Amino acid sequence: MSFTVTQITTDQVRPLRHVTLRVGQPYESTLWAGDNDTGTAHFGVFADSALVGIATVMLDTPKDAHLETPLRLRGMAVLPEYRRKGLGNLLLDACFAYAVVEEIKGIWCNARVSAKPFYDAYGFHTHGEAFELPIIGPHYVMWKMA
Ligand SMILES: CC(C)(COP(=O)(O)OP(=O)(O)OC[C@H]1O[C@@H](n2cnc3c(N)ncnc32)[C@H](O)[C@@H]1OP(=O)(O)O)[C@@H](O)C(=O)NCCC(=O)NCCS
Repeated sequence: MSFTVTQITTDQVRPLRHVTLRVGQPYESTLWAGDNDTGTAHFGVFADSALVGIATVMLDTPKDAHLETPLRLRGMAVLPEYRRKGLGNLLLDACFAYAVVEEIKGIWCNARVSAKPFYDAYGFHTHGEAFELPIIGPHYVMWKMA
């Protein structure tokens, strides 16, 4: 099986968001502000021809100016049966390559507490205390320079 990462469309990311990140919520919850803006990029990892993982970066200034980067990572997910194969890292590589091309200093995200070890392993830093996002649960702000 070969894995490839390419840039994809909003319509392509939405079904995977639904089954990984918005489970049990209406399909409309998979369309986010900024999804179709200039400066937004969606990436998908394909196992042969099947889309099995997704990530999005979009321009969104963090509330805390100390983070000094306007590029936000959202919608990072890999289908359960494809996890721990390095695909999440491939998606992050594509996001950081995009940041470099766009001359953006780094990437920040609201990381689910359950996903913190994944971001830690990639070299992200944690900013502040854990906080609650309604419906979704506890998160940390995390960031990494490109
Ligand atoms: C978080 C997620 C995207 C990681 O994707 P993945 O393809 O499994 O990640 P990788 O295989 O690239 O993992 C790279 C490294 O991160 C760390 N890591 C990843 N998942 C981990 C876990 N559940 N627990 C501990 N460490 C983990 C490991 O160090 C791993 O390397 P290793 O497998 O050689 O030990 C995936 O678990 C997922 O989709 N989770 C559900 C959705 C979600 O929570 N998304 C994040 C929203 S903020």
